[in-house]
Amino acid sequence: MCGIVGFAGNKTACGKPLEVCMQGLKRLEYRGYDSAGVALAAAGMDTVAVRKKSGRLANLAADIERSPMPDATVGIGHTRWATNGEPSDVNAHPHTSQDGKIAIIHNGIIENAETLRLDLQTEGYTFLSATDTEVAAKLLGKIANTIIEETGKPDLFEALRRMARMLTGAFTILAVDVRQPDIVVGARHDSPLVVGLGDGENFLGSDVAAFVAYTKEAMELDQDQAVCISGDTVTVTDFDGNPVTDSKRFTVDWDASASEKGGWDSFMDKEIHEEPAAVHNTLLGRFNEDGEIKLDELHIDPEVFKQIDKIIVVACGTASYAGMVAKYAIEHWVRIPVEVELAHEFRYRDPILTPRTLVVAISQSGETMDTLMAVRHAREQGSRVLAICNTQGSTIPRESDAVLYTHAGPEIAVASTKAFVAQIVAAYLLGLYFAQVKNTLYRDEIHQILDQLKAMPEKIQWVLDNDVEPIEEAAKKLLDAKSFLFLGRHVGYPVAMEGALKLKEIAYTFTEGFAAGELKHGPIALVEPGEPVVIIVPSSRGRNVLHNKVISAIEEVKARGAFTVVVAEVGDPDAEKYADVVFWRPECATLLSPLVDVVPLHLFAFDLAKLKGYDVDKPRNLAKSVTVE
Ligand code: F6R
Repeated sequence: MCGIVGFAGNKTACGKPLEVCMQGLKRLEYRGYDSAGVALAAAGMDTVAVRKKSGRLANLAADIERSPMPDATVGIGHTRWATNGEPSDVNAHPHTSQDGKIAIIHNGIIENAETLRLDLQTEGYTFLSATDTEVAAKLLGKIANTIIEETGKPDLFEALRRMARMLTGAFTILAVDVRQPDIVVGARHDSPLVVGLGDGENFLGSDVAAFVAYTKEAMELDQDQAVCISGDTVTVTDFDGNPVTDSKRFTVDWDASASEKGGWDSFMDKEIHEEPAAVHNTLLGRFNEDGEIKLDELHIDPEVFKQIDKIIVVACGTASYAGMVAKYAIEHWVRIPVEVELAHEFRYRDPILTPRTLVVAISQSGETMDTLMAVRHAREQGSRVLAICNTQGSTIPRESDAVLYTHAGPEIAVASTKAFVAQIVAAYLLGLYFAQVKNTLYRDEIHQILDQLKAMPEKIQWVLDNDVEPIEEAAKKLLDAKSFLFLGRHVGYPVAMEGALKLKEIAYTFTEGFAAGELKHGPIALVEPGEPVVIIVPSSRGRNVLHNKVISAIEEVKARGAFTVVVAEVGDPDAEKYADVVFWRPECATLLSPLVDVVPLHLFAFDLAKLKGYDVDKPRNLAKSVTVE
């Protein structure tokens, strides 16, 4: 939540700081789009130049176009997801110190802001906005001036560290000061911040998307660290000022073009069409020709894996549905219990965690605060944590014992799509690795499943190529539907949940996804003539019993007048008989079917939202990276 960018580099004032901030904000807008703003500083300025506007970044860009901002040497930019104070021009970031010499931007929630505000008010400070950030801005200004009185010179880095020690809650704060127009300083506590290392210029960002157009060399910052960048230097310390010299460096493994639309109308459409590549790339290099899984990147001794007797998946939203899918496969292959828990519920129920429990945290962003808190709790209780994550340099992998990256490429649309299929694949690789070290599957069985997985990108592509018309037809027919029900069984159940979530999220339609077996235990009362019911039908091959049971569920809702949309294996005669619309999928093994079944559901939500005229990439009230609990 909230996107943050900072730039330091120019010895002489020019337009680059503003250009970098606006470019960065464009790439970070998925993190929040309630308002946006920038602050620039250069030698000779009396106060920082600040411009901010409520609404999308385009409003800010238009405002700057109408009335250009001055050249500068450093800049900071912010795109906001409002937590504290409504979205408005005045509440937008940056906020400034009382004398206007310092500007700050902030991501997170400062929990002791009200106490600090009262203290500052009694000292005569005045506030324009309702935000916790303005409290921090006034406080930083006060501390910076105290340091000048004490030492005779400005020291924004020290001022920020002193303030960081006073704040409670979660924050990433960046600041600039006209008295030190060659540096940008930052501090992080429970909120993301990465450094971009350029040539004669350096960057700060909530994630690497902020600066990937300028450099792919990056450096992680740890919890409770502060950073000061100039064009030529990057200095990291803890909040007490002790130097940190072992920050981890990495190279971003995707190009700036991957975070652009590249000819597509929306990121969501592009990302759904990248699902085959997300599966392919996540499999790449993880096993050899003999079908031996190689997860050397995990850095966990296979002996440790042998000892694991329980897996708990913690995740939120779409990532949790990927975990639910994985439960079916891993329990089947490895014969150890797999629990799937919403991360925000996990630590409050006092879960049973032992050194033999492996907690698997699934997160596209790697920043979801609920999941991060679950990770910390699990480690405190002595369990090992393995992250399945799509974002290099993010917090959850850094705080986990091991990480298995999904290689879906940057996911920009707020609604998660390609990350879902990549998460399933990564969790399946983990399951097969367990089966390999624990000897619960024969080598040729693993080989066979890997071959099936390798064939999945092509099968997903088949759906993308062949289901366009029925999906469009269903979306047109159901444009005015007030609600939807989604039903699935076995691995189709989490897929139904995922399809339902997508529809709520981007088409703003009341939708419930549930296990088809529950139908007669209540939900069937909701079915009245015309009610759309989307059903995922398992193959009639293999788990024939399940197929027949789901077909019975279709008959039951059909008998009550439901409009049925069915996802079924090509040529399934039963599906055809009872469906008003069918989204076909190619033949595949039951455990792998979620990888294809979900694709038409993603497309359906996309089509419906587009037909309703909604912004599919930036649905209302949401942000991509949920960095508050
Ligand atoms: C739904 C969606 C969310 C995320 C959830 C977890 O389309 O995007 O439900 O899946 O907020 O986010 P990550 O995976 O970043 O932890």
